[in-house]
Amino acid sequence: TAQNSKNISWHHSQVSRDSRESAFGNKGATIWLTGLSGSGKSTIAVALEKKLFDIGKKAYILDGDNVRFGLNKDLGFSEADRNENIRRISEVSRLFADASIICISSFISPYQKDRDDARTIHADSDLPFIEVFVNTPLEIAEQRDPKGLYIKARQGLIKDFTGISAPYEIPSNPEIILNTHELEIAQSVDNIISYLSDKNVI
Ligand code: PPS
Repeated sequence: TAQNSKNISWHHSQVSRDSRESAFGNKGATIWLTGLSGSGKSTIAVALEKKLFDIGKKAYILDGDNVRFGLNKDLGFSEADRNENIRRISEVSRLFADASIICISSFISPYQKDRDDARTIHADSDLPFIEVFVNTPLEIAEQRDPKGLYIKARQGLIKDFTGISAPYEIPSNPEIILNTHELEIAQSVDNIISYLSDKNVI
């Protein structure tokens, strides 16, 4: 029979969050990048991680490549599977943030409810959650089409494709909005770095 979760207890660490943070030189936090496919999430995530690393901060990217090929390889793109994808990623992000790492989570995460749940999971652990709306008009993402997926979606070869045949719910109250079609990548990164600095994460 399955393990009875009632019989599981939490093991407390002998390393406090404060001592971990002062050893690492930054607080733990999750930077949650949400936006359409082709909006620039991954590009910003990579540039942000590099910048944080170069100034001696602990940061790590979670994205489709390291999650959908491993932890979430059983999940597709139905609404239920996306909900479960984001639920698991939210929990993993919380663990990274709890370990005093700046977790950069880069997923379409099209549903407001799933992003709100991610926020709640972090708030319950007293960890900063910074929702960043990577805002690019669909027409521009579709013109870029870096992986040739929009054209396939328009041809009906990919079903449930975000923005074409599946929804993207615009974030109602993000901490940061990046209009990536009007900004250089470095400007988007600086915007997030300033926010982290203002909030004493770094
Ligand atoms: S979600 O909605 O948050 O669960 O999606 P995510 O885990 O970020 O995965 C998005 C990447 O998967 C590719 N892909 C699709 N995206 C949207 N809809 C459909 N149907 C789909 N099928 C495959 C696509 O390359 C996305 O990558 P990005 O980096 O966002 O372009």
